[in-house]
Amino acid sequence: MTTHEIKLNVNGEEYLLEVAPDRRLLDVLREDLRLHSVREGCGIGLCGTCTILVDGKAISSCLMLASQARGKEITTVEGLSKNGRLHPVQEAFIKHSAFQCAYCTPGFILSAIALLTEDPNPDEDTIREYLAGNICRCGSYLNILEAVKVVGKESRDE
Ligand code: FES
Ligand code: FES
Repeated sequence: MTTHEIKLNVNGEEYLLEVAPDRRLLDVLREDLRLHSVREGCGIGLCGTCTILVDGKAISSCLMLASQARGKEITTVEGLSKNGRLHPVQEAFIKHSAFQCAYCTPGFILSAIALLTEDPNPDEDTIREYLAGNICRCGSYLNILEAVKVVGKESRDE
């Protein structure tokens, strides 16, 4: 298959890449850019494990072609820390032990950030509903819920 050149903005850096038109964004991020926080679970848009931020919105990268991401800002967990400090949602996940094997964690963190951007202090039902598309096979849901609630509460108390 012929390839074409695309420019992607990932974690604030521009990349010029030669990709086949049918390549998924998930594969380009993992294989070409070596961003291994982006993980495949179901591959069909049902588990949220491959979630990334595209222009601030949580998107399943298994359902998006790399070429569809041209001109958009992509964020993965590798791009979250600033000046050597973890993002507050990352810190909250650690503090509240919101993971066991951590396979699902990058997807949950990015979905939580998308939620908190839309609604900085969501109630429990809103968090549950928003994160319903992310599956944790280890069942860390209560700790994840707590971590996201605390970040929201802290932003309200600031
Ligand atoms: S791997 Fe993309 S949603 Fe499951
Ligand atoms: S911590 Fe293992 S799948 Fe969520």
